[in-house]
Amino acid sequence: MTEDIKVLFSPMSICCLKFAQEFAFKDDDVLAATYPKSGTIWMQEILPLVLNGGDLTLIHTIPNWDRVPWLEEKRLAVVLDKLTSPRAMVTHFPYHHMPPSFHASKAKVIYVMRNPKDIMVSSYYFHQMAGFLQDPGTFDEFMATFLEGRVFFGKWTDHVKSWRNAELGDRIMYITYEEMVQDLPAALRKISDFLGRNLSEEVIQKIAEHCSFKAMKGNNMSNFDLVPNELMDSDKSPFLRKGIVGDWKNHFSAEQLARFTTAIHKELENESFSLPWSSD
Ligand code: A3P
Repeated sequence: MTEDIKVLFSPMSICCLKFAQEFAFKDDDVLAATYPKSGTIWMQEILPLVLNGGDLTLIHTIPNWDRVPWLEEKRLAVVLDKLTSPRAMVTHFPYHHMPPSFHASKAKVIYVMRNPKDIMVSSYYFHQMAGFLQDPGTFDEFMATFLEGRVFFGKWTDHVKSWRNAELGDRIMYITYEEMVQDLPAALRKISDFLGRNLSEEVIQKIAEHCSFKAMKGNNMSNFDLVPNELMDSDKSPFLRKGIVGDWKNHFSAEQLARFTTAIHKELENESFSLPWSSD
């Protein structure tokens, strides 16, 4: 198990573009696409529950990386063999890295967006605790690193542009981390409707309870307690850290806010979509 986990979290394993390009999507596959720190593991909890009508077995017996595996991870094929359809996966890939079989299939995608200021804060702590990532330096230094896209999966703005401009019609649904925090049952109804699941209100409430920040923090199949400290050191910062909206207000100076906002606006100024968050 430990060796498996080491392979999973090694940078050699993640980002296996060639392997992912050969992966065969099925029509009933479901994919959550996210920029890192936008709510990926939250979707790894939600999707099996929505697809299985609230059956808790998977989330209580299989670690999240095996129950809803990553497309960019070499072990995907082995892991998927054990899953029954409809299969759920996650990816940090931008849209243009999706394999040909994805485009030929009817697989559905849920793109989860989060306020980039909160992503940057979350990522700053993640870089401190994850042994496979570079030390972030000071918060100010990390802001430059983040805005220049010198992080895993590049610039946040490029990722968002790629998925917001994806021409997938009714195969794609957009949701925000903030919507999920504000009203998780409403977000679950939206996801359930998109996936053609007709879940009762009782099941929605049950799923919401088991996908709360507190419940996930207490579930060792979801909180990364199974991962050795050398890879993820929760004494430095837990993976499930705060789970709130607006933590950036505790970190950004006025000057940093202005710098960050200007940089993001500049990157998105020619885009036809607007962001769901105010810039201040
Ligand atoms: P914070 O560091 O701000 O707490 P990802 O899974 O994409 O890496 O995203 C991790 C972020 O999602 C972390 O944010 C984590 O706490 C948050 N998160 C995970 N599950 C959550 C839940 N059930 N409710 C709220 N936030 C959650």
